[in-house]
Amino acid sequence: MPLERYDIVGTSADELSRCIEDGVLTGALRPGQALPSVRGLARDLDLSPTTVAKAYRELRRRGVVVTEDRARTVVAHRPELRLRLAPTVPEGTVDLATGNPDARLLPSLAPASRTLPTAPARYTDDVLLPALVELARSAFTADGVDADHLLVVGGGLDGIERVLEAHLRLGDRIGVEDPGYPGSLDLVRALGLEPISIELDDQGPVPASLAAALTHGVEAVLLVPRAQNPTGAAWSAERTTALRELLAHHPDVLVIEDDHAAPIAGVPARTLTTARARWAVIRSVAKWLGPQLRVGVLAGDEATTTRVLARQRLGTGWVSQVLQHLVAVTWATAAEDGTLQAAATAYTERRSALLAALAEHGIPASGRTGLNVWVPVDEEVPVVQGLAELGWAVAAGEAFRLTAPPAIRITVSGLSPTSAPRVARDVAQVLEQRLTGRQG
Ligand SMILES: Cc1ncc(COP(=O)(O)O)c(C=O)c1O
Repeated sequence: MPLERYDIVGTSADELSRCIEDGVLTGALRPGQALPSVRGLARDLDLSPTTVAKAYRELRRRGVVVTEDRARTVVAHRPELRLRLAPTVPEGTVDLATGNPDARLLPSLAPASRTLPTAPARYTDDVLLPALVELARSAFTADGVDADHLLVVGGGLDGIERVLEAHLRLGDRIGVEDPGYPGSLDLVRALGLEPISIELDDQGPVPASLAAALTHGVEAVLLVPRAQNPTGAAWSAERTTALRELLAHHPDVLVIEDDHAAPIAGVPARTLTTARARWAVIRSVAKWLGPQLRVGVLAGDEATTTRVLARQRLGTGWVSQVLQHLVAVTWATAAEDGTLQAAATAYTERRSALLAALAEHGIPASGRTGLNVWVPVDEEVPVVQGLAELGWAVAAGEAFRLTAPPAIRITVSGLSPTSAPRVARDVAQVLEQRLTGRQG
């Protein structure tokens, strides 16, 4: 569509930028399309060039437009939707890189498959499987999360995307953990949102860093309350209170909690969502029932869940009830027969063994909960390569970071406690070699 068909109008920088943003949102202005020159538009609208330049500057800052060849201002392309592949695992190395749960700790799908509904179902408005909703409701309620409004979505990322789409607009700012899960960071960028870093320590987001993001005008924050990927951070009671108090000064900020490892995290649930206006907690099951069961249960305020449900109905409609059945029965069985508890214990043993072994070599690392240990390094690629040569595939931290310093992520799900000293020894050797290499 030629630009002439979309009239840019306004009498102030704010009106102009909103008009252009509306054009982008409705598709009347397409990615790559050139906007009029500052002087040209100022002349046409009888405004000062300073006003137009200010509008363009604001749009540029928010990622709606970019400047090409110094002078031309064009509508930004959404970030390229590259397929981000899992870290490579060179042949002959042990996979401590891909972040997968240990298949041996996942429950069998056999009991659930044996009871799959066999009658052909009909299109229906009744899309939530009562057995799954009841399980999720009692888990949320026990954890202090308001479970009045629940939905079933296609996993953690699907839930996050749906909630973001329901509330945020192109160019909006969102507070994200740095380092954080690459899937979420990529999703935020793909939606044309501007990620604002929130620093972490073992107890979760650092309050001063959350406060800075809030002051920066974020519309939403996306946080992982426990088993944070990649650092293993989990919110302590004190930290939760501090974060809640900060957020109380920003009642309209949307809070999304990605609780992806709930029953295997090994620590109690905490939430910042209580009594907030706009919020969602998504409990996905892939990490503890298996990545083939890509399902999540989403709790949220009424407006959020209504919007998400309405939008879901326009697209995929619902999550297959066959899948919901597999999840509900597998979840109930694994909770009852101790499989989930056993997995939580095993991951804790593996993480603790690696952390202790690294500490013996004087190597600082974090991994309070979850499947991973995060080890700060001076430069990622040579350390990843050095470890690959010694037989260990680990992930470079780059994909997880915005401004956080370099590190490697070691996934412990495939690492027996008895192998931890060998991994730590080899990490120490590679780090030592780099040090002596640099000095020499
Ligand atoms: C923090 C976090 N959230 C969400 C996910 C993905 O969840 P799902 O597979 O249900 O989309 C992962 C997967 O690694 C993760 O680490």
